[in-house]
Amino acid sequence: MIPFELTEPIETERLRLRLMTEADIDIVHSYQSREDVCRYLLFDPRDRDTVAAKVAEHIRHTRLESDGDYLQLAVERKDDGQMIGDLYITVKSVENDTAELGWTFHPDHHGQGYATESAKALLALAFDTVEFHRVIAELDPRNDASVNLCLRLGMRREAHFVEDLWFKGEWADTGSYAMLAREYRAS
Ligand SMILES: CC(C)(COP(=O)(O)OP(=O)(O)OC[C@H]1O[C@@H](n2cnc3c(N)ncnc32)[C@H](O)[C@@H]1OP(=O)(O)O)[C@@H](O)C(=O)NCCC(=O)NCCS
Repeated sequence: MIPFELTEPIETERLRLRLMTEADIDIVHSYQSREDVCRYLLFDPRDRDTVAAKVAEHIRHTRLESDGDYLQLAVERKDDGQMIGDLYITVKSVENDTAELGWTFHPDHHGQGYATESAKALLALAFDTVEFHRVIAELDPRNDASVNLCLRLGMRREAHFVEDLWFKGEWADTGSYAMLAREYRAS
């Protein structure tokens, strides 16, 4: 239930989801500085100082209570401790009991089901632990990998907004995916 404070890592079969630390800066920079990784993210490739400032900000966010609160979690492999990407969950609306999820993984670690495995754990946190009513994800519909991830998680495509976003020098569409707690429980 809200307020929720993340006090310990979340473990899956192969992965650990934990709060970021300053030791993650170089790895986060290694993927957030790449054009291919940022193609459909809302920001442009970041330099190390920008990443360091963002990570410092993320470290302070450990609690979900008000609109806009978020957890930006490092995803690391349990067998070798390698950080491979990150996930976020944010409170979209307390009044409407809705959270939003997002994900970014280093390309070296794509295609092995890590994003799916960790995002499933985040969905479980959202529905089983915090007990949100609804979870959404928004993306650029051209981002096939992210669309497929939403579908693998069992989310429903609810909307396709046409050219609603001025994005990196062009008009872009937004795809909106969602799942309700009762659908999660029935799945
Ligand atoms: C979106 C993103 C996280 C998806 O990564 P991904 O590697 O496709 O997703 P997963 O880690 O779940 O891997 C799934 C793939 O691994 C395969 N796979 C291999 N082993 C698997 C396993 N044990 N379990 C599940 N899938 C497995 C799946 O078949 C699937 O392959 P496919 O893409 O050919 O269908 C990644 O593309 C990314 O970081 N992109 C850049 C940032 C970005 O755009 N973020 C989203 C903004 S909205």
